[in-house]
Amino acid sequence: RSIKSLTTSPSAHILRRGYASEAVPQRKVTVLGAAGGIGQPLSLLMKLNPLVSNLALYDIANTPGVAADISHINTRSEVVGYASDAELGKALEGADVVIIPAGVPRKPGMTRDDLFNINAGIVKGLCEAIAKHCPKALVNMISNPVNSTVPIAAEIFKKAGTYDPKRLFGVTTLDVVRAKTFYAGKAMVPVAEVNVPVVGGHAGITILPLFSQATPKANLSDEELTALTKRTQDGGTEVVEAKAGKGSATLSMAYAGAIFADACLKGLNGVPDVIECSFVQSTVTELPFFASRVRLGKNGVEEVLGLGSLSDYEKEGLEKLKPELLSSIEKGIKFATQ
Ligand code: NAI
Repeated sequence: RSIKSLTTSPSAHILRRGYASEAVPQRKVTVLGAAGGIGQPLSLLMKLNPLVSNLALYDIANTPGVAADISHINTRSEVVGYASDAELGKALEGADVVIIPAGVPRKPGMTRDDLFNINAGIVKGLCEAIAKHCPKALVNMISNPVNSTVPIAAEIFKKAGTYDPKRLFGVTTLDVVRAKTFYAGKAMVPVAEVNVPVVGGHAGITILPLFSQATPKANLSDEELTALTKRTQDGGTEVVEAKAGKGSATLSMAYAGAIFADACLKGLNGVPDVIECSFVQSTVTELPFFASRVRLGKNGVEEVLGLGSLSDYEKEGLEKLKPELLSSIEKGIKFATQ
């Protein structure tokens, strides 16, 4: 049985019991910020993933309870909680994938950039530890502002001499998840069949869904496409406002984070044609980092795919987003290098 058939068939979970030890490699996933609003449901979803053999849950608060709770679930992975700075090294040692949802979320009226001062410092510290304890891990950055935290991580890894652009990802999957859901609703097509690339960055107008490439095709008007684009760009704010001061997207983000980590694991395991959108080091535009479709493989990014053909509206959106995205990237680089 090939790895692919084991990991992609609906019965993978059942087959795992009989065949896992020969066919499915050991993979350690570490979640940093595991006891948070995103961290908890994300850790739960990673516990349900049969590709994971070891699940390390790290947070500076409340980790023992979350780890004890999740560890009782009767799935493959062994769960260990790590609760203090002193234990961060052990949490990271041997990790294949490190997922980072650590940091503060938005409140109504805040932009993702307003989180910069707190989250930049958190991400810096965590990335220094990654460089030391698991420099080969694939890093899935969820902490906002992603447009800046990914460049910060890159600079920290460069300083440590461990930077590999193929192994650093800004998680923009939630933008794709939202674009798919909103498109399916408007186009009246089955949501499970929908594909929409989302490119650019992960904040406001830097989020550029390419509905002209959406499948299944639908005949939507320019007004409808503009409304869909705006709703995708403002999806995070829609949730922040609905939660009215209690944080930002956590459940849909956990789902999106689990989809992206699963894609990374499949790539590592040699499953062919694993493609997801992600904010990575890029030459697709003149910007040093950019989100676009990426082919994942045994070393992380195998190939950064181009943008394909854009509508005039999307071309305009692309030009508009570049200055804002560049300034967020530069802000991150400046923070990490000063
Ligand atoms: P939260 O406040 O509920 O949880 C954050 C967790 O991080 C807390 O448990 C806290 O103890 C932990 N933490 C803080 N400093 C830490 C450190 N140095 N090491 C380890 N853990 C640490 O926040 P929530 O809602 O889970 O959001 C987390 C981050 O994810 C925020 O920055 C938010 O903006 C971002 N986010 C990103 C999205 C994306 O699409 N990429 C979508 C939604 C949120």
